[in-house]
Amino acid sequence: MTMLPVLDAGVERSQVILTVSDLAVTFGTPEGPLRAVRGLSYTVRRRESLAIVGESGSGKSVTSMAVMGLLPRNATVTGSVRFGETELLGMSDKAMSHIRGRRLGMIFQDPMTSLDPVYKIGAQLGEALQAHDKNLSRQAIRARCVELLDIVGIPNAAQRLVAYPHEFSGGMRQRVVIAIAIANNPDVIIADEPTTALDVTVQAVVLEALQAAQEETGAALVLITHDLGVVARMADRVLVMYAGRAVEVGSAEDVFYRPRMPYTVGLLNSLPRIETGRRERLTPIHGSPPSLLRLPSGCPFAPRCPMAITECTLSEPSLDQVQTHGARLPATYLSTTHLAACIRSGELVGRDRAAAGRVFAADSADKDLPAESVSALDDSVKNVESARGEGRGGQPQPGQQNDSA
Ligand SMILES: Nc1ncnc2c1ncn2[C@@H]1O[C@H](COP(=O)(O)OP(=O)(O)OP(=O)(O)O)[C@@H](O)[C@H]1O
Ligand code: SF4
Ligand SMILES: [Mg+2]
Repeated sequence: MTMLPVLDAGVERSQVILTVSDLAVTFGTPEGPLRAVRGLSYTVRRRESLAIVGESGSGKSVTSMAVMGLLPRNATVTGSVRFGETELLGMSDKAMSHIRGRRLGMIFQDPMTSLDPVYKIGAQLGEALQAHDKNLSRQAIRARCVELLDIVGIPNAAQRLVAYPHEFSGGMRQRVVIAIAIANNPDVIIADEPTTALDVTVQAVVLEALQAAQEETGAALVLITHDLGVVARMADRVLVMYAGRAVEVGSAEDVFYRPRMPYTVGLLNSLPRIETGRRERLTPIHGSPPSLLRLPSGCPFAPRCPMAITECTLSEPSLDQVQTHGARLPATYLSTTHLAACIRSGELVGRDRAAAGRVFAADSADKDLPAESVSALDDSVKNVESARGEGRGGQPQPGQQNDSA
């Protein structure tokens, strides 16, 4: 019987479908070893939605490629990835291909990565079904293909089976990819930026399709995104990554309303909050993440952190249970599940997101922003608000089906 990571103390073993423990991925590069993922642990519980968020390059995709066994040869992977009780790391390609696509479904950012332009949609869906069940009759395959397109909201599914990918709009193509990912009733769907390449008005439709697919199959969802609006809408739990590590993990409510790691506070502060009804200036996190070839010895966020003190640069903080009252304790001693990697997280206790954000804002961005940058930020708030409030009329390309069709 395998142990659950500490962040799931109190959760029943049978409720956990995916367990990633101390995962590390290092790429051999001409400049030296690049440590893309460093000691990452998380679990995915049956039927839940776990969002993985973080800036570009933080290791979100590499993590999911490691889970799927799809990393290139220059990657060295250590740790453990267990699907149920089955260890996936080190499994042969043949054994892994039985799990991939059947028990673990994957959706990538660009639907054309998954779809072959020269085959009809029905043929590609049928192939996904047959790959894992050679005995299916033609009628059964056709009926299931129609059912799958229905689930993801493609109208006139029976007629659309004979269309080619280029005859569909981007949003419809991504819905076909979702249909392929759930074709064999997977236990886990991993979606890596599934809406990033799509027009903002189409994103909502694709997210609805993803939710419908998850409900239909009862699968757990690992949703990788840098869009916190998507996280707010879809996630039960959130894992924030920075420089290849988890720096905050908790329920979506805890992470959104009671963030305990300055980086998370910064991420949330760069998102307009329409629900307040007030105009608030966004405060960007200045600077960029450290090079994964030469990581600093202490907290990797220190060079950008408005709360950084000398102590932060001495050693990298561990991911510990956040303080509510009294002393900060290592997560091993506690059964609750809000963790942060910050030696000053206790100072954010008692502050909601807005109050935490003011600490960040006062110390960092705005005071040294030139006037033109402040005005550019104000404009960006207005743009996002109007895109969300009114929607933008994305027109389908000639020859494509409209997503709202
Ligand atoms: N095959 C590879 N060889 C060398 N380095 C790689 C390789 N694949 C990824 N990396 C590096 O690993 C780090 C993590 O990359 P990853 O793609 O996981 O980031 P990400 O969080 O998904 O970013 P994004 O939001 O831009 O998709 C990056 O520094 C990236 O350059
Ligand atoms: S450990 Fe220090 S530098 Fe790192 S996030 Fe916390 S306060 Fe900032
Ligand atoms: Mg990525």
